[in-house]
Amino acid sequence: MEVVIRQHDQQCGVTAADIVADAVRCGATTLGLATGSSPLSVYRELIRRHRKEGLSFADVQAFLLDEYVGLPPSHPQSYAHVIRAEFTDHVGIDSARVHSPNGIADDIFTAATEYDTQIGTSGPIDVQLLGIATNGHIGFNEPGSSLGSRTRVKTLTEQTRHDNARFFTGVDEVPRHVITQGLGTICEARHLVLIATGSRKAEAVAAAVEGPLTASYPASVLQLHPHVTPVVDEAAAGQLKNADFYRYALKNKPPQQKY
Ligand code: GLP
Repeated sequence: MEVVIRQHDQQCGVTAADIVADAVRCGATTLGLATGSSPLSVYRELIRRHRKEGLSFADVQAFLLDEYVGLPPSHPQSYAHVIRAEFTDHVGIDSARVHSPNGIADDIFTAATEYDTQIGTSGPIDVQLLGIATNGHIGFNEPGSSLGSRTRVKTLTEQTRHDNARFFTGVDEVPRHVITQGLGTICEARHLVLIATGSRKAEAVAAAVEGPLTASYPASVLQLHPHVTPVVDEAAAGQLKNADFYRYALKNKPPQQKY
């Protein structure tokens, strides 16, 4: 892993946007997108570059990590709707090229398997953006998720439903079930970029980056991936034991590597 510690949320957004923009300029055509508040600064920066610097997403398709069961894409809190409103509509990625699990399918179990297959046949995903929840989940892979899991239907923890209630009129409105890319599916992306900001993410970040490999902290599976860049602000880095070394290593990178 190459841990990048930045001062503030906005700087994290610029660093992660650099990675995505470099990849797209070098021919990446498949992006993995995450919802939640963590990647918003990345999307804002990419939209700015698209408008001001002509960064083109003309050849890009996108895959979402997850979707609520029971919310149609027209629902303002469905992730299919959120990602269009926050990012893809603003950079010219046609909605037909923004793929997400079908949370209103008659057979959601088959829909999950089909989505996994679609990622496999259209992929691999070149750069996958990830947030992390306070309980260490990525996508909606709650604690206890198999580290090799594929896209499937999951039940949300009460903590996650409460965390996400801020986007709804109340916790009772938050669906109990989701379709999420599995941890094994996520790890097939070429480059994983995890964004975490704020002190409430510090414990989860430390567990993901330095803790034991365990299904109890699903994000710890990132330790098995050959190319992961956690981009965190100082507050989210607060519990990293090796933070000083990560800063040192970033300043003393081998010359052929760059940001
Ligand atoms: C949801 C999403 C995750 C996201 C998490 C954290 O559970 N399914 O992909 O990482 O929220 O969200 P936030 O970035 O708002 O803290």
